[in-house]
Amino acid sequence: MASGVNAQGNIILLVAVATSLLAVTQAATVVVGGSENWRYGYNYTEWAANNAPFYFEDTLVFKYKATPAHSVYLLPNLWSYLTCDFSKAKLLANPSQGQGNGFKFVLNQWRVFYFASAEGNDCKDGMMKLIIVPWPRA
Ligand SMILES: *[C@@H]1O[C@H](CO)[C@@H](O)[C@H](O)[C@H]1NC(C)=O
Repeated sequence: MASGVNAQGNIILLVAVATSLLAVTQAATVVVGGSENWRYGYNYTEWAANNAPFYFEDTLVFKYKATPAHSVYLLPNLWSYLTCDFSKAKLLANPSQGQGNGFKFVLNQWRVFYFASAEGNDCKDGMMKLIIVPWPRA
């Protein structure tokens, strides 16, 4: 029957379209710093600029060794980020949470994310800070 063939054809087309949409909207997993991981002395401002945009629901992975100690904090605003003031920061990952597959953080809020390490001079001198603004996925 002609109509039956049409219906089947439409379903196949729908599945194909849905599959390609899923592929486009699939969230990415990104290791912060790439092969440099999360370490003192690497410029994460530059890394973030070179690897933007990041999308809503993407996962960031912070990988670091136990020594020298590093951490991951979420800072509340630009000023605390610029001055490395952790007094109102939220601890996301302590120095022992970066090993193995690393610490994973999903960008699942519409906000500006200010990340930094609070250990030693990591933030002030070590450039271990970055700003991420998630984009909507097309
Ligand atoms: C890190 O890179 C940014 C962007 O290229 C640059 O503006 C900044 O001065 C660099 N920071 C340091 C401490 O070199």
